[in-house]
Amino acid sequence: MDLGIAGRKAIVCASSRGLGRACAKALAEAGCDVVINGRDRDHLATTADELRRTTDAKIIPVVADVASAEGQQALFEACPEPDILVNNNGGPPPRDFRRLDRQKMIDGVVANMIVAVELIQKAIDPMIAKKFGRIVNITSGSVKMPLGGLDLSSGARAGLTAFLAGVARSVAGSNVTINFLLPGVFETDRLRSYMGTIAKNKGISYENALADRLATVPARRAGNPDELGAACAFLCSAHAGYITGQNLLMDGGVFPGAF
Ligand SMILES: NC(=O)c1ccc[n+]([C@@H]2O[C@H](COP(=O)([O-])OP(=O)(O)OC[C@H]3O[C@@H](n4cnc5c(N)ncnc54)[C@H](OP(=O)(O)O)[C@@H]3O)[C@@H](O)[C@H]2O)c1
Repeated sequence: MDLGIAGRKAIVCASSRGLGRACAKALAEAGCDVVINGRDRDHLATTADELRRTTDAKIIPVVADVASAEGQQALFEACPEPDILVNNNGGPPPRDFRRLDRQKMIDGVVANMIVAVELIQKAIDPMIAKKFGRIVNITSGSVKMPLGGLDLSSGARAGLTAFLAGVARSVAGSNVTINFLLPGVFETDRLRSYMGTIAKNKGISYENALADRLATVPARRAGNPDELGAACAFLCSAHAGYITGQNLLMDGGVFPGAF
């Protein structure tokens, strides 16, 4: 399918690895110019080279902490009026909620809620003026179904979802959409580190911890980041203008509700 977005300009935050990288790759394959981002310069440069080699797209790497004002400024200097914004960031480490002090909670809410809102504030008016905008927020399946130790992440992301529910309706008439991708278990560095912590806490091997986790997934496997990237590119496509304010759960069937 031709996604109809060749030549569109995209900012994909936190995209040197994992799910963000997969979104950047799918948008580059669709012909977009893509700003990619991460804090580690070498890693970002390697990813930029790989994406240029495999997609022929214009890839602009921006080394920046997306949570900082300077980082956000650098992203918008590289692409002042994006047609597409994919919000992504690292998530807080798993931690019993009793061990969260006020500063840790504020940091978590900033990272997984406020940063996305700030970036949307910067991107949205030119999108409205151009009558085209696609905003995708990578959140988590934990927005719908709690995950032990990730309460801060779940709460901040649920806050983002509720915040943007109204915003999405207020800009839909200008062909600007705001949607959410809710990953379950995807094979990324984040998953490896999370499963490492679970294994340590339970005193079992990493392999057994992962096997236990995947046994709870009806699909009996972890998701491939490229699957999420493809869904992201579709939500950003010319064909998805009538989909807004939606939460697309990609969890291999874990969430048991019929609706
Ligand atoms: N993988 C899963 O199964 C899963 C499930 C549910 C939710 N999620 C959520 O989805 C998001 C992405 O997860 P992932 O698995 O793709 O993680 P990942 O493999 O750890 O990759 C994270 C990416 O974000 C970048 N990054 C982190 N903090 C950043 C910051 N402050 N500024 C700019 N870039 C930053 C990292 O690069 P640098 O380190 O170089 O900055 C890296 O490119 C996370 O919020 C995670 O909690 C993931």
